[in-house]
Formats: sequence, structure tokens, C-alpha cells
Amino acid sequence: MQLEHYPHHPWKIIEEGWLAENVESSESIFSLGNGAMGQRANFEEDYSGATFQGSYVGGVYYPDKTKVGWWKNGYPEYFAKVLNAPNWIGIHITIEGENFDLAKAKEIKNYCRELDMQTGLYSRDFTAVLDNGLEITVNSKRFLSLVRPELGVIDYSIKANKDIQIGIIPYLDAVISNQDSNWDDQFWAVDQAWAKGNQAYIEAHTLKTNFSVGTFMEATVWDNNQAIATQKTTTEDKKVSVSFDYQLTAGNTLRIAKLGGYISSRNHPKEALEQQALKVLSEAKKHSFDALYQEQKAAWKEVWKSGDIAIEGDVKAQQAIRFNIFQLNQTYTGEDAGLNIGPKGFTGEKYGGSTYWDTEAYCIPFYMATKNQKVARNLLTYRYLQLDRAIENAEKLGFKKGAALYPMVTMNGEECHNEWEITFEEIHRNSAIAFAIFNYTRYTGDHSYIPEMGLEVLIGIARFWAQRASYSSVKQQYVILGVTGPNEYENNVNNNWYTNYSAQWCLNYTAKIIEELCDNSPEEAARIEAKTAFETTELEQWKKTAALMYLPEDKNLNVVLQQDGFLDKEMIKVADLDPKERPINQHWSWDRILRSPYIKQADVLQGMYFFEDQFEEDTLRRNFDFYEPFTVHESSLSPCVHSILAAKLGKQDQAYAFYLRTARLDLDDYNAEVEEGLHITSMAGTWMSIVEGFAGMRVKENMLSFRPALPKAWEKIAFKINFRNRIYTISIGQGEFQCQVEGEEETTLQLNGNKQVFKQEIRLDL
Ligand code: BGC
Repeated sequence: MQLEHYPHHPWKIIEEGWLAENVESSESIFSLGNGAMGQRANFEEDYSGATFQGSYVGGVYYPDKTKVGWWKNGYPEYFAKVLNAPNWIGIHITIEGENFDLAKAKEIKNYCRELDMQTGLYSRDFTAVLDNGLEITVNSKRFLSLVRPELGVIDYSIKANKDIQIGIIPYLDAVISNQDSNWDDQFWAVDQAWAKGNQAYIEAHTLKTNFSVGTFMEATVWDNNQAIATQKTTTEDKKVSVSFDYQLTAGNTLRIAKLGGYISSRNHPKEALEQQALKVLSEAKKHSFDALYQEQKAAWKEVWKSGDIAIEGDVKAQQAIRFNIFQLNQTYTGEDAGLNIGPKGFTGEKYGGSTYWDTEAYCIPFYMATKNQKVARNLLTYRYLQLDRAIENAEKLGFKKGAALYPMVTMNGEECHNEWEITFEEIHRNSAIAFAIFNYTRYTGDHSYIPEMGLEVLIGIARFWAQRASYSSVKQQYVILGVTGPNEYENNVNNNWYTNYSAQWCLNYTAKIIEELCDNSPEEAARIEAKTAFETTELEQWKKTAALMYLPEDKNLNVVLQQDGFLDKEMIKVADLDPKERPINQHWSWDRILRSPYIKQADVLQGMYFFEDQFEEDTLRRNFDFYEPFTVHESSLSPCVHSILAAKLGKQDQAYAFYLRTARLDLDDYNAEVEEGLHITSMAGTWMSIVEGFAGMRVKENMLSFRPALPKAWEKIAFKINFRNRIYTISIGQGEFQCQVEGEEETTLQLNGNKQVFKQEIRLDL
């Protein structure tokens, strides 16, 4: 897709002009979701050009049998994938008996797509000129309801410049597959399919996992407000439709309202699905499209009320951050601890809709600060509910006694990844899960999560690290051998600093939590110790392993070492590479990448970001200045961490450049792959780049602390933060800081290291 394809607008994403080669990219960009289901921006009418069909139901997956060239013991048997679900949006249209298909139109005029992020409405307008000279004008609008999570709504209008015979055939279609299927398996088996009157229903279950999903619809058609009756219904094995045949007068508007969506056995008993679908329809059809849209608008207004970031003076940046916030809210709403945030959300198949360490490392801060704290707690609970599986996963690899290794990729807690260097070696993911517990507790002040759930998780993780570290008699220290750090451009390295440091931190943190709990709530401590068969000797072992953890460093350069032997590489900086060879992952052999010093994403710097209180600013500066020049940022997760650290180090121009790269990654398609779906998890990193980066927000001594440094291009930013159940409205200009807090209570915050005490509102010069 061409860069800067979508014009800058503070609240909208707009595509003007028809470009067939952009259809798949825009299908990603204009995707809709409501936390429970998602839909790529596929056309309602048929389209025979290149398209990537995608309809997804949260948490409904299929275990696709693993496909690898050479099997290794410990590989998971399957890769769980969120499935392409039966299509509910389709409206087959015939004009004078011919199929209406934009790929076959002679010309497409006034083509425009629009996504209104303020209200969650997606619309599309165009006039298609057909071979016979007929001009067909379409306006379609749709949204996935935030208020009724099982419902989607379409309002499709069509008119012609001459009298025409038109067929309108709204349908449901279960003839679907995943593009990324390993063995071309059938994922769904249809149990029933019917069409009656203007309604239709398909109930299908997923093979192997046995989720049942009812896909439903109801269609109503009007000619200039005059309702038209259905002529016939068609029921095939996997496709059902209702049809309206009509003589449409030139200039009249035929309007089709299609209500549809999914009911899943994750939320209802299987035998009640059909009844539930009919209930959703009968409730929805009491309201007009406009009334349902008013509900939608009000729900999005609430989302923006606590989650918006307003940027004055830079529309490009403004549009980008709103796009990121909008997509995060479409992906995860936080009511269901069984759901999580896939790196592509509901916008594509890559990464299988599964959960990665991205959630803990990148997403939790966003949900913690912009939502009720239950939302972040649900994200933590997701891992707690999967603890037994993490223990089984570690057992499969030879670990014992309740050691837990959380999966790199998972849907139900079992590992799904099957590249040995990641599955077995990218074990740092365990630390992010422990860090998230610490981060949640620090931010929310909710100390109940740890005794209720968190400590069991921490014990499992600490046991893993204690067993995974081995004692080197040469070094007389503990080492962690054969790992892959966050930088996946190095595999099977020894003593990745980030892994060792974070393992040491997990061991110390867990030991501290246990000791505190024993002092403060001995009964709770005894209950958890009994449940986890914890022995005091473990505590001693953890402390000893942590104290003797080997952390590689280079005394001459005065930096920590990404891993043993890092400096033996040919240290040519990224800036000196031939730009034609970038991105290196598309131009170089894997072996050349592995031997090179190039860093895919923050690795050492990820550690200095997480554990920043442990490092002096000078240490951070030296390590940033050393590692960033070797970083190729070929993971979408990379620029945001670098932006935050650059802002902290006063490198404003660099911070801003990284910000634009993370924020507009999809809108401007920097990685030339947006057609595969959006980078949802990195979008949370974009939010962090503003709040933690430019506003410099942290939690210190149980209060919010700010160290603002806005990019020169920005006049002002304003955002809201839910901190400990109070809403803070922060506004930062080039020379001014302002904070309003609801309620009468006194508030203390820190600005540039100084404590400020106030009620309701404070304004300070910067
Ligand atoms: C990154 C991982 C990340 C995954 C999913 C990879 O490219 O290197 O850190 O977990 O993408 O976003």
C-alpha cells in the first residue's frame, strides 16, 4: 500500500478513490470488533478480486495439527487458531440478473470508506458504472454493537440511475476456511441450517474443540420506506439465504437492514443457542438502525471519556493515537477472564489469535489506566486460570515440583509454538508474567490479587527459574544457558542479560512476597504454602540463586552485555548498512542474521525499561547509546520502548520519530504487510509512548508522578487516567502542567520530582 494513503483527520480514517490493490489493506484498517467478535472490512456484496475474508468469534479456536519438517521432543501437538467463522455480513446482489461485483465494474466513482472512531461506525459509499452503462450507487454502514456484544448491524442502501430488476439476497455462509490452515482441515461441522421468512440461522461446531456457534441474521428491505416482502428462502448444507426480487425505479433508494452476529457455547448452553439468537434478534429489531446506533455512540462516548488522548497541534499524531486506542478497545473489553489480546486482535489470522507475552509486557498498562481495574485483573486472572497447564508444560520439558513455564503462544494454556529456539528457549516470557503482577499491584494498590491468585503463579515461575539456572563452577555463579532473549535475531545464546536479570528479579520478588505474607497474613501464607507444597528450603535456594546470578557486562564500555560473546561480532552499526538490504529479515539468510549484531527489538533495553528504578540514568544512557544503533526495530513492539527511553533521556527528536513509527505503523504500513492484519499489541505500546514517554508518568511511592517533555510539534496533550479508582484529567502544554481529580479528597502527585498536594485541580508551570 502507498504511504500516507489515509488523509489525516482527528477522529476518522478515510479512504478516497478506488484502488483494487488496496482492498486487502483497507480490510485490515477498517476492521471492526467489540471484544466478543470481530470482522474485517470485507464487502457485503460479492467481490471476486483479491480479498482476505475474516470473521472471528472471541475464544473459539481449533487445534490445527502441528506441521514441522523435523519433529523435536517437547513440541506441542497442535497450534490453536482462532477460526474464520461463518460469514454473517454477506448480501448477494443481482442487477438485471447479473451478479453485482465491484471487481467487474467498468468504473467505480466517488469511492469512499470511512471509519468514525468516535462512534464505532464504518461506512462505504461509491457509484459503480456497469458495462451496460447502469450506474449503481451504494451507501453501506455497519457496526458491531458494544452494548449487545452478540449483535452486528448493517444498513445498506442502493439506488440506480435507471429502472432495474434487482435481487437482494442476504445470506449466512459456513463454507469458510482459514488461509493459514496447516493441513486444509475442515474446522467446522454444520449441525443445522435454516431460513424462514426473513431470518436465517446456521449452527456449527468446531471439530476437536467442540465449540458450538450459532450464526444468525434477519433482513428487512424497504423501497423509499415501503417494506418489501421476502420472496423465497434457500437452505443449502452450509449456506442459507432469504431473497427479495424487485423492480427498482430510477432514483428510489432500496434500503436493506441486516441484523446478525454470533451466539457461542462459551457463553450459553449449546441447546439454548438458537433460542438465544432469536432473542437477540427480537430485542434488536424493536429498535431502528438509528436507535441502535445511538446506543453505540453512547457506549463509545464512555470509552473515550476515560481513554482518549487529545493532541493539539499535530493531526497526524492525533489520528494515530486515536486509531490505536480505538483498536485496543475493539479487541478487548475486559469482562471475560477467558479472553485475551492476540497480536493481531480480530483483524487477521497471523499469530492465530493467541496470547503472547505481549499482553503482560505491553498491554496491561493501557488497560490498567484507561479502564476499571477489574479489566487488568481479568488479564492477570487469565494466566492464573492456566497455571496448571503451565506446570504441565514445564513437566513436558523435564522440570519438576510445580515449576511453571508459561507458553510463548497459547489459547487454552497449552503451548502452541513450535520453533525450538522459541518454544523451548524464549523463556523470558515467564518473567513478564511475574512483572505484570508486580506492575498491577504497584499501580492499582490492590493487594488482594497476590494472596488470592498471584502468589501461586509467582511460586510456579520462581521454581522454574531456580531449576532452569545452573551453577557454573568456573564462574562460581548461576548461569542460564541456551536461551533466546526478546531479540529473536539471536538464538541459543548463553546468559542473555535480560533473561538472567529478570529471572533474578522474579526470584527475589517472590521470596519477598512470601516473607511479607508470612508476616502479615500467616493464615493466607499457610494456605498457599499447603496448596503449592511449598518448602522453606526453596526460599533459601531462590535467594542464593538470585544472589549468585551471573549478569554479563563489559567493563571497558561500561555496558551490560546482551549475552556472552556479543562483542565478538562484527560491530557495524545499522546506519552503515545498505538501505536496500533492510529489513534484514526479508533480505538476509537466517544464518547471517544470527551471526550479525542486529537486534530485532528492545532486549537489554526492555530490562532497563521494566526495572528502571534499579538503574541510574547514566547507566541507561550508556546502554541506550550502545544498543540502539544496532537495533533494526523489525518487531512492531520495538519502537515504543525506545520512544519511552529516548524521552526519559531527553532525546526528544528521537523519541518523536519512534513515536510516529509505532503510532502510524499500520496506517502508513511501514512494514508493508498491513493486509495481514493490524499490530494490536504494539498499539498499547504506542499509548505508553505518550503517557510514560512524553508525559513521563510513573507510579512512585503510591502516587502518580510526571516528568513531561512534549515533542516540539505538539502544543498540548490531554488524557485521563484511572488511578486507584479516581479519574485524573491531565493536560500538559509546552510550559504548563494541569491536573484535575474528581472528588473532594486531597491528592498528592509528583511533578519533576516535587510533591504537590491539592484538591480537585492544580496548575503548575513547567
Ligand atoms: C516478537 C515477539 C512477539 C510476537 C507477537 C514477534 O515478532 O519478536 O516479541 O511476542 O512477535 O507480537
